[in-house]
Parts: sequence; structure tokens; C-alpha cells
Amino acid sequence: MATDNPDRMPDLAFRLMAATMAVKDQLFPTLNKRIEGFSIQSGMTLVDYGCGPGRYTTQFAKILGDTGKVYAVDVHELALAYVRRKMREQGLRNIVPVLASRYQTDIPDNVGDMIFALDMIFGVKEPVTLLGELHRICCQEGVLIVDDGHQSRERTIQMIHQSDQWTIEQESRDHLRCVPVRNRSEPNLGTLPRPSAAQP
Ligand SMILES: C[S@@+](CC[C@H](N)C(=O)[O-])C[C@H]1O[C@@H](n2cnc3c(N)ncnc32)[C@H](O)[C@@H]1O
Repeated sequence: MATDNPDRMPDLAFRLMAATMAVKDQLFPTLNKRIEGFSIQSGMTLVDYGCGPGRYTTQFAKILGDTGKVYAVDVHELALAYVRRKMREQGLRNIVPVLASRYQTDIPDNVGDMIFALDMIFGVKEPVTLLGELHRICCQEGVLIVDDGHQSRERTIQMIHQSDQWTIEQESRDHLRCVPVRNRSEPNLGTLPRPSAAQP
């Protein structure tokens, strides 16, 4: 059953995208090198948001081992069908496929050690709402890895700032590493005047 998410592409477009990615990964096998740079540790809980046919998801699952878990989220039900097939073929049991309904999922609050939004945010019609959902599912010490996909770095940074939910911690050519803004209703101690050590 199709979701009502405005970002859902037609079935044929999804199949063409998946086929193109498969060919590209055969011709240019750079995925694992990129994944090494994410510093994923076994036992973590990851969220691959906009997982597509699961190119990253399955590699993540192998690194995480039996004690870790990866939620594979997509708005397209075909994406989850691809992921489920790879799970069966590769004997992976630590992947939880999740169909996103508009910008919500049933993933519990604060579970993700690392949230990935790879090659997906450029096509999202309501990026601030999406970034809010990613914030909800990210744990206190967690991080968001987001890349530009088919948009400028400037636009990605603008989306993150507009969300008011994430702070950019590190930028590289390939992606932005962001940490969640927490407890915005509480005073930010970093901005309060510090007591002077010289006071009598
Ligand atoms: C270009 S593919 C990238 C797939 C994967 N992240 C990768 O890099 O191989 C973008 C994916 O994001 C999904 N997507 C787009 N908007 C979404 C949304 N709002 N919520 C969840 N998934 C979304 C699409 O259905 C598609 O599978």
C-alpha cells in the first residue's frame, strides 16, 4: 500500500534508480571506503533514513553485529521490499524495515546512536519536519550524518539552520555531521555570564 508522503516517487522511477545504483556500485565500489569514515561501532543502533534499496543498510548491519540494529526507513514500500530480499539473501537479522508515513515513523524516541540521511534530503518537500523527526529518534549523544545529494552545500546548511534542531559539528566534502540541540526550553548555560573567579 502506498503512503501519502509527497516525496514518494513513482514505482518505475524507484526501480530505475535502484538499477542505476547497482551498476554504479559494481563499476565504482567506493561505498565501503565511505562507510569506514563514519566510525560505526558494533552494538550501535543506527537509522538509515531514506534507505532506498539498502546499499548502506546491509553494510551497516554487517558492521553492527548481533548486538546492534539498523532501522531501514523509506517512504517507498519498494525500498523495504529490496531491503527484505537482501536480508533473506544475506542472512541479516539485525535490520528493522520501517515504512515512513509522511514525516513520521513508529521508531521509539531517542534510540539512534547515528542517524543517516544520505542522498535523500535534496528531494524532501518539508525538510524542517523531516529534521524534527530525525531529532526525535536520535539519542542524547547521537549524531546525524547528512549529505547534499543533488543540491548545494549552502542549501543543506540552510535546511539544517531552519530546523533549529541540529548544530553542525563538522563539515567534510562528503557530508555534514550534526548533533541534536537539546532542551531548548531550558537556559543554555554556555551563554550565561560566568561568575568571576576574582570576586571577593
Ligand atoms: C536517491 S535515494 C538514496 C538511497 C540511499 N540513501 C543511498 O544513498 O543509497 C533516496 C531515497 O530516499 C527516499 N525518501 C525520499 N524522501 C523521503 C522521506 N520523506 N522519508 C523517507 N524516505 C524518503 C526515497 O524513496 C529514496 O529511496
